[in-house]
Amino acid sequence: MFKDKTILVTGGTGSFGKAFLQELLDNHAFKKVIIFSRDELKQFEMQQIYTDSRIRFFLGDVRDRDRLDYALRDVDMVVHAAALKQVVAAEYNPMECIKTNIHGAENVIHACIANNVKQVVALSTDKAAIPVNLYGATKLASDKLFVSANNIVGDRDTRFSVVRYGNVIGSRGSVIPFFKQLIDSGADTLPITDERMTRFWITLPQAVQFVFDSFNRMQGGEIFVPKIPSLNMMDLAKTMAPALKTKIVGIRPGEKLHEVMCPKEDSHLTIEFEDHYVIQPTIQFAHKVDFSTNAIGEASTPVPDSFEYSSDNNSWWLTEKETLDLIESRLPTPS
Ligand SMILES: NC(=O)c1ccc[n+]([C@@H]2O[C@H](COP(=O)([O-])OP(=O)(O)OC[C@H]3O[C@@H](n4cnc5c(N)ncnc54)[C@H](OP(=O)(O)O)[C@@H]3O)[C@@H](O)[C@H]2O)c1
Repeated sequence: MFKDKTILVTGGTGSFGKAFLQELLDNHAFKKVIIFSRDELKQFEMQQIYTDSRIRFFLGDVRDRDRLDYALRDVDMVVHAAALKQVVAAEYNPMECIKTNIHGAENVIHACIANNVKQVVALSTDKAAIPVNLYGATKLASDKLFVSANNIVGDRDTRFSVVRYGNVIGSRGSVIPFFKQLIDSGADTLPITDERMTRFWITLPQAVQFVFDSFNRMQGGEIFVPKIPSLNMMDLAKTMAPALKTKIVGIRPGEKLHEVMCPKEDSHLTIEFEDHYVIQPTIQFAHKVDFSTNAIGEASTPVPDSFEYSSDNNSWWLTEKETLDLIESRLPTPS
């Protein structure tokens, strides 16, 4: 898929970017990969580990369209992973989140079209579905920008799709490393926001694989949603530290009890494949696409009226053993 191709990853020094790079190096032929991000220290540290001559490190900010224009010369494929993603920080600093997640998305789109990039996959989150926090709202706006960008490409070949998934185990700032740190430091309780709270879970290798699959499947305009398991947060705490008490600390600013990946308001647009859903665009593109069969010939079926894919109505729940496997990053495949 990537043979003879140059790939640019915005946010390439983040949790996803590093896992994506590792997979690329381990299992794929490609021409060049460009890691695009702001912080020189993170890039320097990565350069000490990743010495393959096909890797380029490019300092830049997605808020800076000129820099993106320059970085994207002769690039074939883009993964847009750069984002501000801390829910509470976004509530306190809304304009910063808007500038990176929305204006940054717009800049990526324009620079990709200007440079005739062929395929662009933008990463999104379950928090973008029926958003209640600023982070989710910016990611929804970003999703909309990427989907509708397929309408402004004219006769160019650039195609944009979105991949939306849930909590990534072990990513920076997420709950499992947080609980681990509390347990290791001898805390006497684990904080739980609400005992009813549920979340979708995915491992980084699964997220990376799903993005690779989406490059193969995409025609432009899809929001790809993987089928992944749910877990109650109380069960997570009990599994990680059975002997430790939990303390209910209340829902944090901008948090939901449950997350949604395919809202019921989009059920008329949602189609089901074997291991994922696709939310089709609300608008018809200048170039007509039949999404019912994807680019590699996989066929879909429509979902029932008012279908909603949410972390509390999921048919796939992690057992205690699977949760422990998840913590060790060995998530089961869909049954
Ligand atoms: N982690 C999750 O649980 C999760 C779940 C669903 C979806 N996602 C989505 O997946 C994507 C990647 O997440 P992640 O976990 O890899 O995040 P991460 O570890 O926080 O990495 C974010 C990356 O973006 C870069 N970045 C931030 N602002 C930037 C800017 N203005 N210009 C250029 N680069 C910038 C960061 O590097 P610098 O700071 O050096 O610029 C870093 O490389 C995000 O779009 C996120 O919304 C994540």
